[in-house]
Amino acid sequence: MFLRLLAMTTLLAASALTNAQVTTPPPEAALPKVGVASPDGNLSVEVTTDKDGRPSYAVLRDGKAVITPSRLGFLFIDAPKFERNFAIAGHKTRSFDETWEQPWGERRSIRNHYNELRVTLTEKTALKRSLDVVFRVYDDGLGFRYEFPDQAALKLVKIGEELTEFNIAEAATAWWIPAGEWNREEYLYHRTPLQEVGYAQTPFTLRTENGLHISIHEAALVDYSGMNLTRVENRKLRATLTDGIGDGKVVRSAPFNTPWRTLQLSDDAGGLVTSSLILNLNEPNKLGDVSWIKPMKYVGVWWEMHLDKKTWASGPKHGATNENVIKHIDFAAKHGLGGVLVEGWNVGWDGDWFGNGEDFSFTQPYPDFDIEKLAAYAKSKNVRLIGHHETSGNAAHYESQMGAGFDLYQRLGIDAVKTGYVADAGQAKVIGTDGKLHYAWHEGQDMARHHLKVVTEAAKRHIAVNAHEPIKDTGLRRTYPNWISREGARGMEFSAWGEPGNPPEHEANLVFTRLLAGPMDYTPGIFGMKTRAPDGVATTWAKQLALYVVIYSPIQMAADLLENYEANPKPFKFIEDVPVDWEDTRVLNGEVGDYVTIVRKDRHSDNWYLGSISDEEGRELKAPLSFLDPGRTYTAQIYRDGEKADWKRAPQDIVIEERKVTSADTLTLRLAPGGGQAIRFVAQ
Ligand code: NOJ
Ligand code: CA
Repeated sequence: MFLRLLAMTTLLAASALTNAQVTTPPPEAALPKVGVASPDGNLSVEVTTDKDGRPSYAVLRDGKAVITPSRLGFLFIDAPKFERNFAIAGHKTRSFDETWEQPWGERRSIRNHYNELRVTLTEKTALKRSLDVVFRVYDDGLGFRYEFPDQAALKLVKIGEELTEFNIAEAATAWWIPAGEWNREEYLYHRTPLQEVGYAQTPFTLRTENGLHISIHEAALVDYSGMNLTRVENRKLRATLTDGIGDGKVVRSAPFNTPWRTLQLSDDAGGLVTSSLILNLNEPNKLGDVSWIKPMKYVGVWWEMHLDKKTWASGPKHGATNENVIKHIDFAAKHGLGGVLVEGWNVGWDGDWFGNGEDFSFTQPYPDFDIEKLAAYAKSKNVRLIGHHETSGNAAHYESQMGAGFDLYQRLGIDAVKTGYVADAGQAKVIGTDGKLHYAWHEGQDMARHHLKVVTEAAKRHIAVNAHEPIKDTGLRRTYPNWISREGARGMEFSAWGEPGNPPEHEANLVFTRLLAGPMDYTPGIFGMKTRAPDGVATTWAKQLALYVVIYSPIQMAADLLENYEANPKPFKFIEDVPVDWEDTRVLNGEVGDYVTIVRKDRHSDNWYLGSISDEEGRELKAPLSFLDPGRTYTAQIYRDGEKADWKRAPQDIVIEERKVTSADTLTLRLAPGGGQAIRFVAQ
């Protein structure tokens, strides 16, 4: 394969980058520049150092700048910074093309096709320290990371700040949530001009004036602090690492690599959703045979607590009683759902549990919850209990009992656990390398380590993990496929009690922001729209059903009270039918924060599913069915908003109907304000 590689010793006109032969004369003093282009040649990166030896990178797409020169580097707390006096001491390129299979996922097979450029930067000063920056350029974006080599002058690396910049070439609209605030990732999305961004979390989404969609995020966040973005000036964003617990924001011994800094690029919003760049930049599965990980739907002793009909704490309203759990197991068995989550089963919920995790036991059930009997009963009905470990952010206390907690679950055949880290940001607790208890950020290096400890300890016992109030998703499910889902945004619970709850545009924002990072345990499927939140659940019923297709997760909850499903078997049928593991995924249309239509093919049948959602606007969307097998007839089981449907006035107005369709048809989807549509295409 022809690798379009540039190794230049002269400053080049940007447009020359896709040509290996460059003739442009140097317009000023010669500066070194190296680059590489994507396999299709449309995207390229160039790396240079300026006259002061400051390294920078720039990104071009179709010959136009996307990222103008943006600096690279680090501050250290005990050594001179890595930022100037560098020379490009060498560079190497290679190309890679492989197709791999996801054990579960939004599609079965993924092509990992990139051209790589490795640039070695060495200081021209007496210290002569060096650093590699590695770029992987794909057709749909790029990732780059720093690799700290083993070297005498920099052994123990104490990073004060990462200086990576993203200098956005064009004016743009940004969708973002604030970083460093008390409620972690649980904020409503802002839509502002790029120039009005402050301190933001990733994934961070932009649409430029010319319609280019950009997502900035990171991949493989391992033993490092999460990256946020600070707008420094104009359209320049700079990496700002989450604080550590002591010396520096990150402390590592060389050699080590940072996570990948990622840029996904697409002409349409949907291209961000179908990009596999984040997964591709993660290491392959390290767990070996993972056939024990089972995607599934589940119900739970859960929503009733969020509505304050039951309590986590013991007492007259205790939710996790034998009787209530048996009711849920029977319901799951009857409707073919795989699991029953039970929260409030263990001792520790009776005081003020918020942020006080030391009260929790992970092995001792409340007396009205007979864990042995219930686990056996569930098994007899072909249903699994899903465990729950709320830690209140006290990772230190959790780690002291985690092994015993997982052993108990393994013995009882409980092969999935939901963890929780409810504590204000900056109030998680970890034991530092000094052996002392420290307050920590949920996305700092110590919590990154903690989460991987949980996931690997769970994997040893064949337990899957779904973390709430987690560290952000950076695609580590590829390496550790038992990390099946997580929260990490405002979930449905905000529609139970939030002030405000989730507005109608929330999910249309999530699809193009948080969900680009990976699966979310959003917990859809609510039919009881009046809740403790002032506006209740701000969607129609048809939209609740569509969310099972639109929001990808290998575990999906049927989150409502069982009585609401028992009273409404017809719309519930879609929840019974919809799969959670997919052969393929496509986005038919979508605009960030406004609407989206996604189709997915079941991994275990020839059936396809469609989910379409709108924000507060009613709209009509065209859905060409060309994804269906040509020449085949399908029965489309349609769950659509009725004539009067409206999230505020008539959320229950749903029409359920059937028609025959083929791949030659185009459907018109009429979505109500706050509405949606779900369709099951059954192959004949
Ligand atoms: C917050 C979680 O998101 C929610 O699902 C859970 O019920 C509570 N914490 C209690 O653990
Ligand atoms: Ca909107």
